[in-house]
Amino acid sequence: MEHQEDQWRLKYHLMPETGWLNDPNGAVQFNGKYHIYYQYVPEDPNGGATHWGHQTSTDLVHFHQEPIFMSPDQPFDIDGVYSGGSIVEDGVIHYFYTGNVKKPGDYDYIYNGREQNVVHVTSRDGYTVDKREVVIPHAEFPDGYTDHIRDPKIIEDNGNFYMVLGARRCDNRGSILLYVSENLEDWDFKGELIVAEDDEGYMWECPDLLFIDGQAILIYSPQGILPTEYKYQNTHVAGYRFGDVDFEAATFTPTGEFYELDYGFDFYAPHTFEDEAGRRIQLAWMGLGDTMPEYTNPTINRGWQHALTIPRELTIEAGKLYQRPFHEYEGLRQEGVQTNVNDQFTVENINDIYEAVVELPEQESFEIRFGEDSQLVFEDKKLALSHGPSGYGRRKRIIEVDAVSNIQLFVDTSAVEIYINDGEYVMSSRYYPSENADLRLELYGKAQVTYYPLIPSKDYKGAN
Ligand code: FRU
Repeated sequence: MEHQEDQWRLKYHLMPETGWLNDPNGAVQFNGKYHIYYQYVPEDPNGGATHWGHQTSTDLVHFHQEPIFMSPDQPFDIDGVYSGGSIVEDGVIHYFYTGNVKKPGDYDYIYNGREQNVVHVTSRDGYTVDKREVVIPHAEFPDGYTDHIRDPKIIEDNGNFYMVLGARRCDNRGSILLYVSENLEDWDFKGELIVAEDDEGYMWECPDLLFIDGQAILIYSPQGILPTEYKYQNTHVAGYRFGDVDFEAATFTPTGEFYELDYGFDFYAPHTFEDEAGRRIQLAWMGLGDTMPEYTNPTINRGWQHALTIPRELTIEAGKLYQRPFHEYEGLRQEGVQTNVNDQFTVENINDIYEAVVELPEQESFEIRFGEDSQLVFEDKKLALSHGPSGYGRRKRIIEVDAVSNIQLFVDTSAVEIYINDGEYVMSSRYYPSENADLRLELYGKAQVTYYPLIPSKDYKGAN
């Protein structure tokens, strides 16, 4: 199907022309320009050996598709240029990624048969690769781990560079390894920063160690956490912990519990970076692996699958991590229509892309119906997102929350991001209204609603 006819193509979320996308990688602002890379398989919407796709932006709203940055064409990454991060040093961007290699043969590729090499890449402009070399070959990883050790992310502290790597130990506990370097070339193993307790997952992917207002935060994507009644509902989850980090002793001592970063159906592998204005920005894959047989994305039949979330600015408020949509997205708003709702309200002539800002006075219950058959219901101190058939198997996700004071709803053809209480909670979901669906936005309860139809970002004439 031609993309022009495809009503599910997103109009303001970052996505490639064709094929498969997963994790964001190597995000950086360099000489004013944002460079966003991502796991990418151009020829297969079901995934495969990943490349690093590349898009640039001057405002993180309007993205330009760039040629592929790296392909799996080296002996040390022939089965995938896997995920990693970047750091700028002396006018050069240094990227680190995992070169994935699967040896031919009868292997399980967990305990044997796989190599995951840490590769160092340099670029003076973000477009061309100057150097691409293995700095930690798989064989040099410490003992006690399966073949799954990957996703390097770099942080500088006190004149040293530190690398965190996600790992699966032989006893099937997730963990995060810490390496140190003075020059970004020679890396020494420092120790294991943190290890999963019994029920905290067998593999921790995509670790990201960062500071906000001096507070150390560890973000990671654990696999194998069992669902409780309302938490950890997705096959794989992604979240964070506050803690104290001691780089010398290689320890991260949690000072709080593990909180999920998103309570919807489609969110994984969050990746943060600090931009030139000092904002901490998070991008994430608006999707995740292994959702079948529960739910799926019908766009596979149209030759593509997945997108990134809207970039979110991270802040710490009242001892919690808050996520707000990058405020430049306000530039996509067309004229807003504000309504005070007492009981029931329907927005007429609903657009396929819009933002709705809903201010909610204290009340026992309310309901927002949107899309073809989707709804957000608050009652008994629970907020539930659910879809009918347009969810392609996505049924219900629930947050336990005492009060909901506001909701910011971003709808983009087949994606929805719901920011709750100024970003205290977020729910992200894909859903696929049928072609001639009667799209709606209805509110039942007391509220002040401001509805903004949005301009597709490809037509955005703002900062670019
Ligand atoms: C997370 C992940 C990473 C890996 C990449 C491969 O989604 O599995 O651990 O580097 O995807 O595409």
